[in-house]
Amino acid sequence: MTTALPTTDLAAFLRQQAELGELRFLTCGSVDDGKSTLIGRLLHEAGQILDDQLATLEKDSQRHGTTGEDIDFALLVDGLEAEREQGITIDVAYRFFTTDKRRFMVADTPGHEQYTRNMATGAANADLAVLLVDARNGLMTQTRRHAFVVSLMGIRHVVLAVNKIDLVDFSEARFHEIHRAFATMSAGLGFVSATAIPISARFGDNITTRSPRMPWYKGPAILDYLETVDIADPTERPFRMPVQWVNRPDQSFRGYAGTVAAGRIAPGERISVAGSGVGATVKRIVTMDGDRAAAHAGDAITLVLEEEIDISRGDVVTTGAPVAVTDRFDANLVWLSEAPLYPSRGYLMKLGTATVAATVTRILHRVDINTYEHVTAGTLRMNDVAHVTLALGAMVAVETYAADQDLGGFILIDRLTNSTVAVGMVTLVSDAAGGVVWQKQEVDKRARAGMKQQHPATVWFTGLSGAGKSTIANLVEQKLHALGRHTFTLDGDNVRHGLNRDLGFTESDRIENIRRAAEAAKLMVEAGLIVLVSFISPYRGDRDAARALHGPGEFLEVFVDTPVDECRRRDPKGLYKRADAGLIPNFTGVSAPYEAPENPEIRLDTTSAPADQLAERVVEELRARGLFAG
Ligand code: ADX
Repeated sequence: MTTALPTTDLAAFLRQQAELGELRFLTCGSVDDGKSTLIGRLLHEAGQILDDQLATLEKDSQRHGTTGEDIDFALLVDGLEAEREQGITIDVAYRFFTTDKRRFMVADTPGHEQYTRNMATGAANADLAVLLVDARNGLMTQTRRHAFVVSLMGIRHVVLAVNKIDLVDFSEARFHEIHRAFATMSAGLGFVSATAIPISARFGDNITTRSPRMPWYKGPAILDYLETVDIADPTERPFRMPVQWVNRPDQSFRGYAGTVAAGRIAPGERISVAGSGVGATVKRIVTMDGDRAAAHAGDAITLVLEEEIDISRGDVVTTGAPVAVTDRFDANLVWLSEAPLYPSRGYLMKLGTATVAATVTRILHRVDINTYEHVTAGTLRMNDVAHVTLALGAMVAVETYAADQDLGGFILIDRLTNSTVAVGMVTLVSDAAGGVVWQKQEVDKRARAGMKQQHPATVWFTGLSGAGKSTIANLVEQKLHALGRHTFTLDGDNVRHGLNRDLGFTESDRIENIRRAAEAAKLMVEAGLIVLVSFISPYRGDRDAARALHGPGEFLEVFVDTPVDECRRRDPKGLYKRADAGLIPNFTGVSAPYEAPENPEIRLDTTSAPADQLAERVVEELRARGLFAG
């Protein structure tokens, strides 16, 4: 196997490569399973290890290697791995190699359990997965996890590489035993092909040529297999393009720019807009290099239409069956964060080109990775896999992941840390709002607020217990009332007597407490009121989610900033005393966290001025922001 191009027949070579296409695969398994050795061996056999690297490797192998006189290929890959571990950003290493049959891209993802996240990242682009097992150990929990995640990520072709076959005396019986166990385990995972190959990565058996040491094995060597496996998707997918921006330099030109996510399109064909279903005919396909006769998945284009129709950024242009536009769906979720998932906490979702607010409204079940059984769960921890229902803050074009990986795959992002906390695959698209239709009301927020001659808004007071939130909110309401404004106050203590009677002070209960308070405040804003909300609301992400429910300028965060020692000194309800004595668990500022706002609209330092003066400041600020005149 060499990389030297057969120059005499370059055209045939290129044709063959184009026909087979690049194979993107990932390897799953731990270093102990021989993953590094296998990758190192494949790179070597493909001639990708340079002579000087090889010389160093030979030297190193004699010094540190575990393989005696042989070259320890793991040293090469592990060296890169160690390098990578020092970097913080790159968690998947992509290596490229070429044989005279095919180009390969291999995603090498670290094998330990805590790296499921990286595996999911690597799997996102792959056509095929090589699952490695040690012939001595057979299938491990991690093999099950890998197979499951790989299947979730839409990979339909797997190779079970039964490695270290030399250590079980090239036993045919052992190989078949592992193969059978794998077939049973993966039966429900939807693989189109699952091929088991016995190998010894260390000694090169069944890597490029069939090993004479396993005459009983009649299948292909692993590289042979990878070179020829057909991963083409025979079904032609309909055209899908999320519109990234509307290009309108002047009156004479209007184009819709985006990258084709799936399918092909040509001038003269009919497209429609997901959601509205409005149709039009493609007039031109404009690109950087001039007009095109057709465009395919991956092409960056600007569509010009015959008819003028309403399309904006984020809309999805399609052909064929209409794409659903919805704000709720079911999905498989792989939880990647060390912080657990709490249903009803607000996250950000990236799906297609859209970024929207999202909550997991229900965990339908968690999957026990050992048995693939469904178990009930109230929360998800790192590496958990679950089937969930999600609700979004806006309508987006969605398809199932099986039908369309671009419109069916998504990630969840923590609002605070901006890190990816989950990857998800849509399984079922519900009707918008699960069949609950939004009733359009003729008398709307503007009409109601106009009658009251004010702009409605939520004024959200946050701070420690005893900080003075309720006192100040009360004074603000009295002042607004005196000015003839229409107001309402939602106070944590009071709401907990009714609407939120079922909630306590655990993290998940507080999240739900704030979610309901925010939804109630939003309804009152719809009613045209200036709403004063006074809740500790200790988590920044939840306050941000409350903000996201409101329109621009409709949400003001007021940080009632009183140091905990001052609250403790005041202790109006005697709660700090009891909390310090250990009588109240999860008491904010004592035994539960408080995340102070970073950029509140208003910050009130209660140690520097009396409450009445601070309340006056809030009223002034509301007036200055144009909530009311006079
Ligand atoms: S929040 O954290 O979920 O926003 P909320 O504002 O509704 O809290 O309720 C806080 C009030 O509940 C406090 O003012 C206090 O009177 C009472 N309380 C009872 N237990 C706790 C606790 N463990 N932590 C904080 N407040 C508590």
